[in-house]
Amino acid sequence: MPTISTKGLLMPESPIRKLVPYAEQAAKDGKFIYYLNIGQPDIKTPEAALKAVRENDVEILSYSKSEGSGAYRKKLANYFKIHDIDVDSKDIVVTTGASEALLFVFGSIMDPDDEVIISEPFYANYIAFSTASGVKVVPIVSKIEDNFALPSIEAFEKLITPKTKAILICNPGNPTGNLYSKEEIQKLTAIVKKHDLFLIADEVYREFVYDGETHYSIMQEKEIEDHAIMIDSVSKRYSMCGARVGCLVSKNKSVIQTVIKFAQARLSPPTYAQIASEAALDTPRSYFDEVIAEYIGRRDTLISELNKIEGIKVSNPKGAFYCVVELPVKNSDHFAQWLLEEFDVNGETVMVAPAGGFYSTPGLGLNQIRIAYVLKKESLIKAVNILKEALKVYKD
Ligand SMILES: Cc1ncc(COP(=O)(O)O)c(C=O)c1O
Repeated sequence: MPTISTKGLLMPESPIRKLVPYAEQAAKDGKFIYYLNIGQPDIKTPEAALKAVRENDVEILSYSKSEGSGAYRKKLANYFKIHDIDVDSKDIVVTTGASEALLFVFGSIMDPDDEVIISEPFYANYIAFSTASGVKVVPIVSKIEDNFALPSIEAFEKLITPKTKAILICNPGNPTGNLYSKEEIQKLTAIVKKHDLFLIADEVYREFVYDGETHYSIMQEKEIEDHAIMIDSVSKRYSMCGARVGCLVSKNKSVIQTVIKFAQARLSPPTYAQIASEAALDTPRSYFDEVIAEYIGRRDTLISELNKIEGIKVSNPKGAFYCVVELPVKNSDHFAQWLLEEFDVNGETVMVAPAGGFYSTPGLGLNQIRIAYVLKKESLIKAVNILKEALKVYKD
């Protein structure tokens, strides 16, 4: 039989989705499942976006430009300006989700065996994108005890080799919920300038920042215009995960020209979804005020309920809608599967994401899970109670 590639063998399974068959079986068996495993918000998509698709009179659903519709890119540039990010439409390439933007960046700036330093735990698909590009992820550990703050400059510098091409951050962080301060971004600025590296920032959770904090983008650091590449998406901002529209932003013209070659090879981003995304940009500020108030309420409920469980540690998320929880278990993969296969409270159970897949250092995160607070408060309270009861009887 013909064999598949080494790269194919190395592609990791998604730690978020790999438990799906067990969840499907549990649901078939009649269990009700609280899904805390995936960042699919239950928040309504803005009406303007849905209406733009419902009511448009497109007769030929044609390709758009490879770099994305001109009108959408112009409006996006205005949106960024409102967020103190001074970019032009020429600096933006529209992609099929942030996922494709990340793949294009990896392909555009790194050769096989080049290295990218990423603070772990990190969004698990970064491993998949780097594997697909033959790039090596070099992890730098951030700790739950420090609320996943940025590691020191010295720790970064120890990892920089002639193969290092970039540092990748996620701000606000998935899975940590961490928000990097302006000072932390400036530390990174100093490192990438000194060592002539790219700084890639995945800012798809930009809007979701709590406790009166503000988000500081790498694009606000003028000194590193040629180093900075920002990744963005409508998936979380407007609860439009299924639209599959993201973008990549950089002032570095060679980066944009190269990314456009990748974009040309896949022809264009989705046309209807760009219509929806453009309309979504008219979403009033009040929508975000309500959504953010909802997430703060959920976060506070979740963290206070979790803190009632003995023997666990919880990070204190300042942004996005995730938190990492350390449990008194040896293997959270097994625990998560057991919750679906063997445990319930009155016919209900929870699905969580084991955190091992968010680390690339073997053995780290095995006693941690990631919880996405994408459910209403009442459901979160019930879900945490199920976790609490489960930990009373679970044996490693
Ligand atoms: C940090 C981060 N980056 C990128 C993505 C992918 O986003 P998209 O749906 O735009 O491809 C996600 C999705 O969960 C994410 O959490």
